[in-house]
Amino acid sequence: MLYRRVLVTGANGLLGQALVRVLGRFPEYDVLATGIQAQPRFRGGSCGYMALDVNRPDDLKRVFQDFSPDVVVNCAAMTHVDACETERQACWRLNVDAVDLIARLCLSSGARLVQLSSDFVFDGTGGPYREPDRPLPVNFYGKSKLAAENAARGAGIDQWTVVRTALVFGTGEQLARSNVVLWMIDELSRGRSIRVVTDQVRTPTWAPDLAFGIERILRFGKTGTYHVSGSEIVSIHELAVDVARAFDFDEALITPIDSSGLTQAAVRPARTGFIILKAESELGYRPTPLRDALTRIRAELTISQTAG
Ligand SMILES: NC(=O)c1ccc[n+]([C@@H]2O[C@H](COP(=O)([O-])OP(=O)(O)OC[C@H]3O[C@@H](n4cnc5c(N)ncnc54)[C@H](OP(=O)(O)O)[C@@H]3O)[C@@H](O)[C@H]2O)c1
Repeated sequence: MLYRRVLVTGANGLLGQALVRVLGRFPEYDVLATGIQAQPRFRGGSCGYMALDVNRPDDLKRVFQDFSPDVVVNCAAMTHVDACETERQACWRLNVDAVDLIARLCLSSGARLVQLSSDFVFDGTGGPYREPDRPLPVNFYGKSKLAAENAARGAGIDQWTVVRTALVFGTGEQLARSNVVLWMIDELSRGRSIRVVTDQVRTPTWAPDLAFGIERILRFGKTGTYHVSGSEIVSIHELAVDVARAFDFDEALITPIDSSGLTQAAVRPARTGFIILKAESELGYRPTPLRDALTRIRAELTISQTAG
């Protein structure tokens, strides 16, 4: 079953931009991209755009009335894990209360909801995780994402999907936030040394792959919980080494440390990452090998530098 009218929130973010790009390749989708900004941060894309702050119930209701989406993909979130720890009210308002409202509007309008979630719903003692594993968040961001999952599941909508992902990286236009790979590229390209942890393990996810996985969920009308990430289980240190190799940076700039050497407001789960068998078998999801994704990013950055 194909859902035609797709409302994307948080469309100026890393995933939002990638999703709008992927959905734009298919004429069957009528996409309304929304973001907190008055103007889209991305160029092109075959979609409409309007400003939407998901914290504003009246604005949300109006968009539901005017656009009457078949499906909402909620990419809006407070994603800065340390900020979530220190600004708990703001985090809960966006990551949970707004999801609750979106879910209720989906229920009353008959739309379905695709809610993004995170590997940080797990405590990191038993990764990589499968969908039925028991969540136990260790920081406030993780708690808010688990509460968001529960809001999506508990609203009474028949057709909800929770898409959990992990350590998303990639390029985008005028992104408000960097991501781990762009940060590594930026530092290493300037010849600056970086300290990266060996004891935090993830399955890094290239944003276009995640967007592709979500497109498959929409196309096949899949409901329930899906783990959609990269397939390679690496430490942040190993990821940095991969980045250095893909970009011909000096690997000696990378210093391995363990998490005790970091001072961060929020504790991080140690070993997360996902087993993505369900997405592979039910969605035909095939994530790009990490090295290939990094090579593609190098090409994209070279092209944008040449163009700029
Ligand atoms: N990035 C990761 O490593 C990761 C890992 C696991 C799960 N996830 C989940 O994946 C989803 C997408 O994350 P992402 O990586 O694309 O993060 P992102 O780049 O931070 O995107 C989030 C977007 O939400 C926007 N936003 C903030 N407040 C809003 C509001 N009140 N109304 C509407 N939009 C608002 C942000 O605007 P600004 O551009 O102005 O900030 C940003 O564009 C989130 O649910 C996140 O929790 C991400």
